[in-house]
Amino acid sequence: MNILLTGGAGFIGSHTAIELIQEGHTVVVVDNLVNASPESLKRVSVITGTEPKLYTVDLRDRAGLEQVFAENHFDCVIHFAGLKAVGESVAKPLEYYDNNLTGTLVLLEVMRAHGCKNLIFSSSATVYGSPAEIPITESCPKGSPTNPYGWTKSMIEQILTDVQFADKEWNVVLLRYFNPIGAHQSGLIGENPNGIPNNLMPYITQVAVGKLPQLSVYGNDYDTPDGTGVRDYIHVVDLAKGHVKALDAIGRQCGLAVYNLGTGVGYSVLDVVNTFSQVNQVEIPYVIKGRRAGDLATCYSDPSKAGEELGWHAELGLAEMCQDSWRWQKNNPNGFES
Ligand code: NAD
Ligand code: UFG
Repeated sequence: MNILLTGGAGFIGSHTAIELIQEGHTVVVVDNLVNASPESLKRVSVITGTEPKLYTVDLRDRAGLEQVFAENHFDCVIHFAGLKAVGESVAKPLEYYDNNLTGTLVLLEVMRAHGCKNLIFSSSATVYGSPAEIPITESCPKGSPTNPYGWTKSMIEQILTDVQFADKEWNVVLLRYFNPIGAHQSGLIGENPNGIPNNLMPYITQVAVGKLPQLSVYGNDYDTPDGTGVRDYIHVVDLAKGHVKALDAIGRQCGLAVYNLGTGVGYSVLDVVNTFSQVNQVEIPYVIKGRRAGDLATCYSDPSKAGEELGWHAELGLAEMCQDSWRWQKNNPNGFES
């Protein structure tokens, strides 16, 4: 299939490009590079032998996007493009709603105009808000996200649901990611956050490489086995493979389909710190701080629907996630700039 990846130069998009190319698909990327380097796609070509064509276009640039669709035929779009920093979204709600919602609306209009009505969307477990049940199944009702970023995911899901309801030619797969970490086993691509990382694993790897002095653990008084927050960490390569499987659902004319992509296993912050130290033989100094606003105690998936309907299961464990994150960071201390 010919697949357009919006945001395909980013962390999850670049890993998905590799899996798609290795399965024989043709990949084109649209990315405005606001949070990515074109070097990621050069590394994709080192790994696969094929460099995806990159259009440096903002999704809100309708004329630019029209040109991309005029020059290519796409069987499906995988829509990764968006701003994703939770804290920044609280400070800059208009920028987040504009980028994520307007970008999606323009994309959908251009897709419709060109007769491409197959879309896979990068959603998030954040749409469950404070979940009504754990482990979280897809039938768990959506809740209230605690920040504008999360609301953009919830709103885009609703927009896509309405579009597919109105026109049954659309096939839409909503993939609700849990906590993607890890990196490609080659050590050539990985997560490359701007500035000080917000998320746990990139913070740990920057402590390990000596860029940051110590990790702050946000709270050890949660109702969890060791008091620290529990999450469903998933290796980014497993996540990428989930997108390849979602293409099969599109091929089966799935209509609207929703899947959790997680492992179904919850690990605490201290589990991650201790596993990282153990498998990589690197000390991670940490201090316990107060809880971070908006955090949940526990969040992990029931991924069995993706197993039953897509034949997808996460295969890599926490040890591999820690080893691969570290290999990427160690080999590229300054991300793609090194
Ligand atoms: P990322 O920032 O690495 O990738 C997003 C890409 O989109 C970047 O390359 C960025 O330059 C591009 N982009 C942003 N706005 C754009 C616009 N208007 N036009 C064109 N390109 C634009 O992030 P990621 O971790 O790879 O996440 C990919 C998707 O998955 C995002 O939608 C994110 O919200 C979602 N998601 C990520 C996580 C996570 O923890 N990483 C969890 C759940 C969902
Ligand atoms: N944590 C720390 N110290 C840090 C960073 C994180 O202790 O420096 C803790 C958090 O308190 C939490 C856990 O590590 O208990 C994971 O935090 P992350 O920031 O890595 O991930 P979140 O679960 O908070 O958020 C992620 C994505 C969001 C998404 C959400 C739900 O970053 O985009 O999962 O899917 F919305």
